[in-house]
Amino acid sequence: MGQETWTAVDEYVAGLLAPHDDSLDAAVAASEQAGLPAIQVSPPQGNLLYLLARLRGARTILEFGTLGGYSTIWLARALPADGRLITLEADDRYAQVALENIARAGLGEVVDVRVGPALETLSLLEAEGAGPFDFTFIDADKVNSPSYFSWALERSRPGSVIVADNVVWAGALADPANEDPKIQAQRRLHEAVAAEPRVTATTIQTVGAKGYDGFTIALVDA
Ligand code: SAH
Ligand code: DHB
Ligand code: MG
Repeated sequence: MGQETWTAVDEYVAGLLAPHDDSLDAAVAASEQAGLPAIQVSPPQGNLLYLLARLRGARTILEFGTLGGYSTIWLARALPADGRLITLEADDRYAQVALENIARAGLGEVVDVRVGPALETLSLLEAEGAGPFDFTFIDADKVNSPSYFSWALERSRPGSVIVADNVVWAGALADPANEDPKIQAQRRLHEAVAAEPRVTATTIQTVGAKGYDGFTIALVDA
């Protein structure tokens, strides 16, 4: 049992519960056409983000790492008509592809794509008084995930949810000898979450079309 099985089960689940959808399919196709890396969340994972945002009743969403806007579309669909999603992307070319994908999905009025390294954009958002956010999805450069988490936590309210992607990285998370900066950052994220009295959290391992990885899911209590 391995990757082939995980992919088959993802296809089975997606076929029934996240069936083909013109806007999402077009976003994947246009991203591939433009040469973007195919590292977007899988359809069942996108569906999970959508469900979590709906369970929260999110009206404001912050996303780190837009890529071609695939996860953005899933999340923005969870919002009410007057909801807003801000998504941060460092790469201007990726952001242009995302803008087209988001507009094609009919979400251009709901989604604000902000181009630039997220840490720089956060200073601008701070000056604008952005937030609070009901839901945050952290999926950009993994080394900065702890900083993004702490920024989002300060701009959350009780009941807000913060999700971080790629925290398990094929099991590297549990290897203290691993010196890869992104793995060390994911360990620092876990230590920060553990030490933070304002959140209740877990990390859930996942397998699927994208291999073996996982999400940290945190509920802001206070
Ligand atoms: N959330 C997307 C996938 C994001 S991939 C989806 O599931 O559909 C990670 C993205 O983070 C890439 O597009 C990359 O360009 C972007 N990124 C990398 N470093 C960044 C930074 N410092 N600030 C903002 N975005 C960054
Ligand atoms: C990579 C980034 C991601 O967000 C992801 O989900 C998978 C892979 C990457 O940078 O390789
Ligand atoms: Mg990811």
